[in-house]
Amino acid sequence: MSQKVLVMDSGIGGLTVLQHIQQQLPQVHCHYLADNDFFPYGSKTELELEQRIEQLLLTLLHNQHFDAVIIACNSASTAVLDYLRSRFKFPIIGVVPAIKPAAQLTQNKTIGLLATEGTVNRPYTDQLINDFASDCKVIRIASAELVTYAEMKINGLPVERSALKAVIQPFVDENADVVVLGCTHFPWFKQEFSEIARYIQWIDSGDAIARRLKQVLKETESVATESLTDQEISRFYFTGKSYPIKLTETFEMEPEKLLP
Ligand code: DGL
Repeated sequence: MSQKVLVMDSGIGGLTVLQHIQQQLPQVHCHYLADNDFFPYGSKTELELEQRIEQLLLTLLHNQHFDAVIIACNSASTAVLDYLRSRFKFPIIGVVPAIKPAAQLTQNKTIGLLATEGTVNRPYTDQLINDFASDCKVIRIASAELVTYAEMKINGLPVERSALKAVIQPFVDENADVVVLGCTHFPWFKQEFSEIARYIQWIDSGDAIARRLKQVLKETESVATESLTDQEISRFYFTGKSYPIKLTETFEMEPEKLLP
């Protein structure tokens, strides 16, 4: 019996996580939700995010079951995980900044965190840094522009390299050797960042999330899942403006409007 998961984000950021899930768990059916009508999540309050995501999940769960839901968004995960877990019974996996691996990788004890304003300032992030990187200097940079640039890239619009360079310049100036991409939109620029600042290691949580999902699905294997027909396809939902149908080589999903 196939298992079915939902991966969600404010936009196309979560696709960078979905990519790892599809590589590691090719047999799992993945549905993807881009809540682009409520974009960006990075500037929303905890209460706004709680209400919005709960409403979306209730809408999607109306006539289907998911074996797990992945909140593929750091801005939402650092704010609403406890709330969502108290509201729903299925496993909910969140994506939070990879501070722990960064602290293990750094040679000079100087790491960067590049994320949205919400993530950079949340108590959850302070706690992560206290727990795992208290011996490091952590340079936190919030960038809302970079989230917009990633959405532009997916929509086929050009993004100037000088604009990307300007965002990451403080990490170069401060001599960080590892930078955490603490927003799922940012791995869309991993290649560019690596070319601009070659000696910095740019890390994200995508691979770890796919491994965590593998473990969770194994644990819930005995739970009855609705059987999927051969016609069942991976679905791509959005709430705002439609995306180009063929998102990338990997994601050929028909966009489907979720809310009226
Ligand atoms: N991709 C998201 C994150 O990981 C949200 C970006 C946004 O909508 O501001 O934080």
